Formats: sequence, C-alpha cells, structure tokens
Amino acid sequence: MELKIFKDKQEVAQRFSAYFAELVDKKSVFHVALSGGSTPKVVFDVLADEFSSKIDWNKIHFYWGDERCVPPTDDESNYKMTVEHLFSKIDVPKENIHRVLGENEPLGEAYRYANLLEINLDRIDGIPQFDLVILGMGDDGHTASIFPHEIELWNAQYHCTVATHPESGQKRVSINGKVINTAKEVAFLVTGAGKAEKVKAILEKTEGFEVYPASLVNPSSGNLVWFMDEDAASGLS
Ligand code: 6PG
Repeated sequence: MELKIFKDKQEVAQRFSAYFAELVDKKSVFHVALSGGSTPKVVFDVLADEFSSKIDWNKIHFYWGDERCVPPTDDESNYKMTVEHLFSKIDVPKENIHRVLGENEPLGEAYRYANLLEINLDRIDGIPQFDLVILGMGDDGHTASIFPHEIELWNAQYHCTVATHPESGQKRVSINGKVINTAKEVAFLVTGAGKAEKVKAILEKTEGFEVYPASLVNPSSGNLVWFMDEDAASGLS
C-alpha cells in the first residue's frame, strides 16, 4: 500500500491524473471503474483541461464502481457528472462508455451490469478484473456504495449488488468487494477534513475500524494507493 499526501484537492487531482495517464500508457486496452463524489469531479476537470491530448482515450473503457438509481439526466447521476466534467470535453468513442442504467429496476440492472463486466473484462477465478478501480470514501467510512449498515453487501454473491443510502433511502448499484479486491490497481481519492477520523481509524487500525467498508479494500495484487489531501490525512500520527 502506498500513501500519497498532497496539499489540497487540486494537487490530489493533478497527481492522480498523472498517475492515471502513466497507467493507461502501459496498456493497449484499459478498463477503469469510476466513482462519484466531489474529488473525482475535480480529477475529471484536470484530465479534461490538462490531459485531453496526452491520453489515448480510444483505448480506455469506462465503467462505474457505483451509480445512483436515477435517470442519466438527473443531477444525482454519476454518469451525468462524468459527461459534464470529462466526456463532453475529450475524444472518447461512445462505445467505450459503459454506464449503469440508473433508470432501470435496480436488481435487474445489477445483474445486467455484472453480466456485462463478466463479458467485457478478463476474469480471475471467475471475478471480472479491472485495470483500475477508483474509489472514494464517505465521511461514514463507506466506499463504492457499500455503507456501514449494509457491510455484508461487501460479500454479495454476484459481482454487483443493490445498496440503499442510509439517509435518503436512494437505491444504488455497486460492485462488490471481490471485484474491488481483484482489480490490478485500486486508488482511493480522499479529501477534506470530514474524512480525517475514518482515515486514521482505517490506516492505523484503531478500535472498531472493521465496521467501515473502506477498511476491507485490500487488493490481492497489493497495488493500493491512497491519494489524500493534508486535511484528510491530518489525524495520522
Ligand atoms: C457515490 C460515490 C461515493 C463517494 C464518496 C466520497 O456515488 O456517492 O461513489 O462512494 O466516492 O461518498 O465522496 P466525496 O469525494 O464527495 O467525498
């Protein structure tokens, strides 16, 4: 595991984008799972502004580690956010964008998406393998859309599962823990002081850290990188 701590969200976005460009460069086809949240938004801006001509977008296939069950026109849609901040500004073939159909019935969509991953990606012991899974972590220690009150979904049977947001009750489609931990690389993007307590608990394994789904991220490849700003890392001793 590697910790990379930068001054602020902007620098996190810049350094992550450079890391992303380097990973993509090494491959002829690259399958990445994106996440929602405020940090990816800044990353997408940086990728669009500073890397649009430096990356061969044709070889990247985009998926989502989690998506809110809303239509693609809804402001809550992770897909919509990605179109606005990235896809509308780069040259990426439409066929390379594999969105979760948030407008569909959640359980059926979780199955459809799991099946799509199985077809499109290489498999390790039957589990689809991403080249990179990008994850955020919520203030409550959730990651992808696996929340503390449903931590058992980490071990959900098939590659994707339906989760429920603890406050809004909004349904989400999320990849499960096996898919996350089978990825060749996993990168956490974690910024803001609201994350400091959980970052400390998880990285220093303080009492009770096991209740946070983000603590279960442990790819078999060993390639886990935490990109954090100083605020998120401020509790670390
Ligand atoms: C989502 C996300 C979620 C997010 C975290 C962190 O769709 O809600 O994928 O898991 O990554 O909540 O979000 P921030 O980057 O906004 O802190």
